[in-house]
Amino acid sequence: MRTRTQVGIVGAGPAGLLLSHLLAQRGIDSVLIEIRSREYCEARQRAGVLEAGSVALLRAAGLAGRLDRHGIEHGGIYLQFGGERRHIDFRDLTGKTVTVYAQTEVVRDLIARRITDGGAGAIQFSVTSPQVADLDTDRPVLRYTSQDGVRYEVSCDAIAGCDGFHGICRTAVPADALTIVERGYPYAWLGILADVPPSTDELIYAHHARGFALHSLRTPAVSRLYLQVSPDEDIASWPDERIWAELSERFALPGWTLRPGPVLDKSITPMRSFVSAPMRYGRLFLAGDAAHIVPPTGAKGLNLALADVAYLAPALDGLLHGRPDKAEAYSETCLQRVWRATHFSWWMTTMLHRTPGADDLEAPLQLAQLRYTTTSRAAATSLAENYTGLPLNADSAA
Ligand code: FAD
Ligand code: DHB
Repeated sequence: MRTRTQVGIVGAGPAGLLLSHLLAQRGIDSVLIEIRSREYCEARQRAGVLEAGSVALLRAAGLAGRLDRHGIEHGGIYLQFGGERRHIDFRDLTGKTVTVYAQTEVVRDLIARRITDGGAGAIQFSVTSPQVADLDTDRPVLRYTSQDGVRYEVSCDAIAGCDGFHGICRTAVPADALTIVERGYPYAWLGILADVPPSTDELIYAHHARGFALHSLRTPAVSRLYLQVSPDEDIASWPDERIWAELSERFALPGWTLRPGPVLDKSITPMRSFVSAPMRYGRLFLAGDAAHIVPPTGAKGLNLALADVAYLAPALDGLLHGRPDKAEAYSETCLQRVWRATHFSWWMTTMLHRTPGADDLEAPLQLAQLRYTTTSRAAATSLAENYTGLPLNADSAA
């Protein structure tokens, strides 16, 4: 079946979903395809911290009803090291805050809104054999087989590759048209979701001789915790009791106890820094994890994905209406933010994790940096400014 749309969007993660909403608000028609089911997309456990700019973006797009009711505003984080837990006060240092609101909830809100506004067919879930072609022409093509077995060929004005790190869009670009920069880290995060109230009022990032640990949360009743483990760790060797014992040891502080509880979800995430540039090839625009990955320390991945499409929506609007300047600036504009977040995430990661087989210099340097970051107002402000996020001026900057 041959059809036509203005923008073909591949991937219904935060980037693809928000893009299709922002385009609809501008009167631009899109077809959004996703290989997974709606249930899978809504249950996939990932990030949990929104920058101030991401919250403002979702609010301005009319998507913050539940976020404003259930999001939990945090004015800082704790850094724990050398037997001490020190607070970094974002409000005092930058006047800004972050909001704890799970990526699963962001995705649920976006899916519900697209279906309310665009009807049941607004998102094509569970498609198979997706393909993109003719990317260097004015009529790129999106092909897919729908859940009920019909093969579609959609003629588009532009295609947005929002299909994550393992998607098909980036790899559809000729290899000599992209420069890829990548580093894998010799550790991974074992993450759990636990049915227990958090043992802390704000996130704790802990440096420990046995490896990094992070105490985060999802709601006043549900905690999210992470442990540094080896990248080849078998999750089967981590029964719940072992996870809680290890977490208790890494967060240990006199007078404080970690409350354990039933584990609802458990997974291991590899860690890498990855940037593929430019974020455009002809009429294909890449956004979010399809173009870049940061290690999770510092909670930048989801925020970068939202920022990319905040720039991409006005850029595509211009391109479709004879004003290509923002589309031409899209890649460079996004990459500046991407590289800042890539540096921050690398910095947080290497300051807090224990490298297997590291020499004697690593730990003392990390501790010196942590002490400096928590005692110098200038250093603490730099962390706070990066963590709460750079300003997002999508309509004027791109
Ligand atoms: P994604 O969320 O990956 O969405 C891409 C979508 O495209 C998916 O729904 C996928 O099913 C779909 N898709 C893939 N291929 C195709 C195809 N060929 N055709 C159609 N659809 C396709 N960030 C943090 O800040 N903190 C965290 O704790 C954190 N934890 C993470 C844990 C894991 C396991 C992963 C993978 C990422 C984590 N991240 C975290 C990163 C953050 O979740 C991502 O940066 C964010 O999801 C990026 O959004 P996106 O829309 O670009 O990509
Ligand atoms: C979470 C994840 C992060 O990577 C981070 O730095 C902070 C919080 C989370 O999942 O809650």
